[in-house]
Amino acid sequence: LLCVLRRRNRRDGEPPLIKGWIPYIGKALEFRKDAHQFLEEHKKKYGDVFTVQIAGKYMTFIMDPLMYPNIIKQGRQLDFHEFSNTVAPFTFGYPIITSSEFPGLKEAINRSFQLLQGENLTALTESMMGNLMVVFRQDHLGTRPGENEGWRSGSMFNFCYSVMFEATFLTMYGRPQSAHRHSGMGMLKEDFLRFDTMFPLLIAQIPIWLLGQTITIRQRLIEFFLPHQMSYWSHTSQFIRTRAELFEQYDTLRDGDKAAHHFAILWASVGNTAPATFWAMYHLVSHPEALEVVRQEIQNVLILGGDNFRSDTDVTFSRDQLDKLPYLESAINESLRLSSASTNIRVAQEDFSLRLHAEGSVAVRKGDIIALYPQSMHLDPEIYEEPQTFRFDRFMQDGKEKTDFYKGGQRLRYYLMPFGSGSTMCPGRYFAINEIKQFLCLLLLYFDLELEEGQTRATVDNSRAGLGVLLPATDIRFRYRLRNV
Ligand code: HEM
Repeated sequence: LLCVLRRRNRRDGEPPLIKGWIPYIGKALEFRKDAHQFLEEHKKKYGDVFTVQIAGKYMTFIMDPLMYPNIIKQGRQLDFHEFSNTVAPFTFGYPIITSSEFPGLKEAINRSFQLLQGENLTALTESMMGNLMVVFRQDHLGTRPGENEGWRSGSMFNFCYSVMFEATFLTMYGRPQSAHRHSGMGMLKEDFLRFDTMFPLLIAQIPIWLLGQTITIRQRLIEFFLPHQMSYWSHTSQFIRTRAELFEQYDTLRDGDKAAHHFAILWASVGNTAPATFWAMYHLVSHPEALEVVRQEIQNVLILGGDNFRSDTDVTFSRDQLDKLPYLESAINESLRLSSASTNIRVAQEDFSLRLHAEGSVAVRKGDIIALYPQSMHLDPEIYEEPQTFRFDRFMQDGKEKTDFYKGGQRLRYYLMPFGSGSTMCPGRYFAINEIKQFLCLLLLYFDLELEEGQTRATVDNSRAGLGVLLPATDIRFRYRLRNV
């Protein structure tokens, strides 16, 4: 208790220290309420670098994006994985894997992430296309001519989540040997969403037994992936197959532990992608002129490939074709800019002097957390004019991707960071962008889309601030109708 209550004082060379009046908790409550506003206010008062006590930890925020490269390239003295090595096992329910019980496992898991990229991305992308088409066809397009004509209405978040959850699941883990789809997907998705609501509390290391039904829900989710169940699935991705084979090599991993690792990957692959898909769809549907430009671009890519789109047939996009949709990519990046709020965290391994720019450095202590909060950069009016406005072509210049953004007259090396940075950068980022593109291609090709009238604009729910893509505060009603082409 004494340790917890003993209060730290600022030493020479250290950044300003903000402790709050509640010992240990410090500024945690204010930070959690609205991280972006909290940091902006403190930046005005204390400058670009300051240390805040948050739930027993001391976090030094680096607010100036021109300083980011120095932090990202720091190696020896700043560890990237310490945080995720302990927080992820606690959240998803598997044992800490750096321990001596599992020699080499952590390294092999890290190597498995390569199977989400490079050559393997082609197979993943093709498989995702097929699975998206199956879900779209059976749930929304209809399987007989004349079916599903006329306007239908739906809830946009629910629509995106259902489609992306199932298609991503099928792509990662495969399908039952005798069917194209698993039964029980709707229930699994509902459990997943209930778990997701508790995710910020688990990440904050609140014991799961304090969180009501969460422990039972997590157990049900984990059990979906028990090895004897998965052995009946076919068309499983190379990524998941390799990991399953790896887990089999460790007698010290119980079946429930292996299943919990698979569940963690389900969260990583859907937890951010599904809300990111929602925001991209929402912004496009609320900006019909942008939607038209993007739709035209998608149609042109198909025509160039010699394909004449008709709404009564299935369509496919290759990885190459997806790479040729710069306006669509810009629209997705713009919605990620507006909706992503992840913290990039490094832990100081020793007391040392952290260099921030050519003339300056600050002292940090062993165990302190150095944090980048890219949402502040994404919403900085000096970098992005009218930062709260969705401009689908913000990342386009002369028909090509725009990559020059400035702060204080200097060009920024990092200007868009929804996927983290440096060595902890999201390994699924290329796949994520491809699957959002595929979803939007199908949506825009097959449907006329409109928002239902009488609704207020979608706003973000800040309870996940710091942890990834934010969810909408409420769902949005929309109407869709098969296009007559
Ligand atoms: C890690 C964002 C989609 C797999 C991360 C991190 C972020 C992130 C911010 C942490 C980086 C850090 O600690 O600095 C996103 C966003 C996505 C997305 C915004 C969608 C829009 C995906 C997909 C997959 C995936 C589709 C897999 C198919 C992972 C994995 C990690 C990770 C396995 C942990 C890597 C590690 O432990 O080193 N993601 N992600 N992500 N992501 Fe993603």
